Amino acid sequence: MRRKLVAGNWKMNGSRAALAELDAIAAAAAAAPGIDVAVAVPFTLITAAAERTPALAIGAEDVHEADSGAHTGCVSAAMVKEAGAGFTIVGHSERRADQHETSHDAWAKAAAAHRQGLNVILCCGETEAERDADRAERVVQAQIEKSVPDNADGSWFTLAYEPRWAIGTGRTPTLEEIASIHAIARSKLKTLIGDRAAGVRILYGGSVTGANAATILATDNVDGALVGGASLTAAKFVPIIEAAASL
Ligand code: PGA
Repeated sequence: MRRKLVAGNWKMNGSRAALAELDAIAAAAAAAPGIDVAVAVPFTLITAAAERTPALAIGAEDVHEADSGAHTGCVSAAMVKEAGAGFTIVGHSERRADQHETSHDAWAKAAAAHRQGLNVILCCGETEAERDADRAERVVQAQIEKSVPDNADGSWFTLAYEPRWAIGTGRTPTLEEIASIHAIARSKLKTLIGDRAAGVRILYGGSVTGANAATILATDNVDGALVGGASLTAAKFVPIIEAAASL
């Protein structure tokens, strides 16, 4: 049985003052022992967030693929772990778009994070042009093939399907479209890692809100949500946690 995971992604948002939002988020997480709740915050907030809400899983939004070295401006998995992170996101579509990261980069970052004992949420998802060209399934399959480490299993590895055109737009795929990609992702994982695929959570991400969370989270093979904008405040994030907990 896969526990639902509701993960927030603050992106390049937040401040020390904004960490007050985590108090109510942590309280909602504590009231929902049947699910997992996590929040990825900017590097600069990891330590303060982890110290403020020790029971809440706090993560990074990215790590470098090397353990250390001459990479000015980058941050390693060991560094975010020491800062208090328990997990990291890798391969987010904004990093693929803004920093030209590839699926191979995501693979290397996932491996680096796992070497340091971090859990990983690895993102995949098609662009609008790819979906319009009927290529969403093939794109996601190829991303999974190139980015999922051979030793992935549900104890540390989570996949997130995030159609790029749904991120921050208020648009979401239909439930049938979500179910279809998640089923394809699950079967691709099975060809790569065998029976361990059954234990890997597959999150949906892209314009998840309190209003649509319950139906999305009840969809086959949807094991949770990766939430951007609606994770920035407890008022918007807590209803998503409650929707997941009520399933
Ligand atoms: P969104 O972002 O919820 O604001 O659409 C999701 C994400 O990028 O993880």
